[in-house]
Amino acid sequence: MTETATLSYNGKTVELPVRHSVHGPDVVDIRKLYAELDVFTYDPGFTSTASCSSTITFIDGDKGELLYRGYPIDQLAEKSHYLEICYLLLYGELPTATQLEDFENRITRHTMLHEQMQYFFRGFRRDAHPMAIVCGVVGAMSAFYHDSTDIGDPWQREVASIRMIAKLPTICAWAYKYSIGQPFIYPRNDLDYASNFLHMCFAIPCEEYTVDPILARAMDRIMTLHADHEQNASTSTVRLAGSSEANPFACIAAGVACLWGPAHGGANQACLEMLREIGTPDRIPEFIARAKDKDDPFRLMGFGHRVYKNFDPRAKVMKDSADEVLGLLGIENNPTLQVAKELEKIALEDEYFIARKLYPNVDFYSGIILDAMGFPTSMFTPIFALSRTVGWIAQWKEMIEDKEQKIGRPRQSYIGAARRDYTDVEAR
Ligand code: CMC
Repeated sequence: MTETATLSYNGKTVELPVRHSVHGPDVVDIRKLYAELDVFTYDPGFTSTASCSSTITFIDGDKGELLYRGYPIDQLAEKSHYLEICYLLLYGELPTATQLEDFENRITRHTMLHEQMQYFFRGFRRDAHPMAIVCGVVGAMSAFYHDSTDIGDPWQREVASIRMIAKLPTICAWAYKYSIGQPFIYPRNDLDYASNFLHMCFAIPCEEYTVDPILARAMDRIMTLHADHEQNASTSTVRLAGSSEANPFACIAAGVACLWGPAHGGANQACLEMLREIGTPDRIPEFIARAKDKDDPFRLMGFGHRVYKNFDPRAKVMKDSADEVLGLLGIENNPTLQVAKELEKIALEDEYFIARKLYPNVDFYSGIILDAMGFPTSMFTPIFALSRTVGWIAQWKEMIEDKEQKIGRPRQSYIGAARRDYTDVEAR
């Protein structure tokens, strides 16, 4: 028997079907609410609203667990690697050896950008934020790859997906090279995905550059931890843009734009800048006090999450990775890492943070690793964007193939002026 929830309003009652979820809360299907009761629901920020059904990623906020297609993130971070995870997210199952080889080949053969796209980079000011460049260039891909913009054709959807996963590292690396005035470095197909990205960022044409395998592994892990995260703001933006049947490149550009904000992907840049501003552990109490002061807009960056109310499992892996990478690089006494660890300790013992269940999130330690690798803070969010591209695409494809999805069109509670007649300017 189907379970229902009963809602009464204005003398009428409606039985609303309840849909079962495999993990997480069941959902009350309110689609007929307006037709039957003539009311809308109100939920800014979607705190109690599921915008879709999804089979891709699940977060258990109370347990602090993140699953990609059912597999826990800590197992994937330890045993898998980014391109295998891309396959898993896109197609739903771990690949066989042959499937993986074929997928890696397809990604590797699409890493180059159309040569004319260089002119887009050159049109930006040198001091442009790389996220502005990435957003613009990803959107511009729809002007170059016309043969993969028909969203009604599954083959074109597939080609567009492969192209974006393959080209985002090139786009991000070139945004960086452009900002520092160095020549663009072409992708190298003999390198794995993470190593190729590091190579395009740090190699120069006049000398040999060998990618450090420790850094490549750490980069792969950062990509893995950021690959997907349910219906977060940028993913919902991609889905909403896609619901109008916009082409996939335009949709992913919309996701990049949304990710940029400091409450979302921009937090990694903001967090490292905050840690540097704190500078030494003795200044931590001052910043904790500011974070607690309701009259001060300051927040501890890299802390808190809408869904995780225990801990962010990605932060745990990231913290271990920070220790490992800095240790192997011989810079374990990095003052920023010391401040981060001390700040985490003090905040986690503070009643304000305990009561609100605020824990370090993925952005708290990622910046320390990226900084140790030699990236400037402005590159942190583009690295998040390139890692999340696969998640955006998997979610976009799922939406396109979901018969229940329609154009996203939220309703509102209008609280402006009541209907009134126009008055001529002399009479005002
Ligand atoms: N520092 C100080 N207080 C905080 C913080 C923080 N970082 N985060 C939340 N709070 C307080 C907030 O003031 C509120 O207190 P009160 O109940 O007294 O008014 C309470 O905790 C609940 O906060 P909220 O703003 O209602 O929570 P939210 O779910 O809307 O926001 C968040 C989640 C991630 C936007 C927020 O925690 C935040 O701004 N964190 C800092 C930015 C950050 O690290 N973002 C990265 C998120 S993870 C990666 C990603 O999504 O890209």
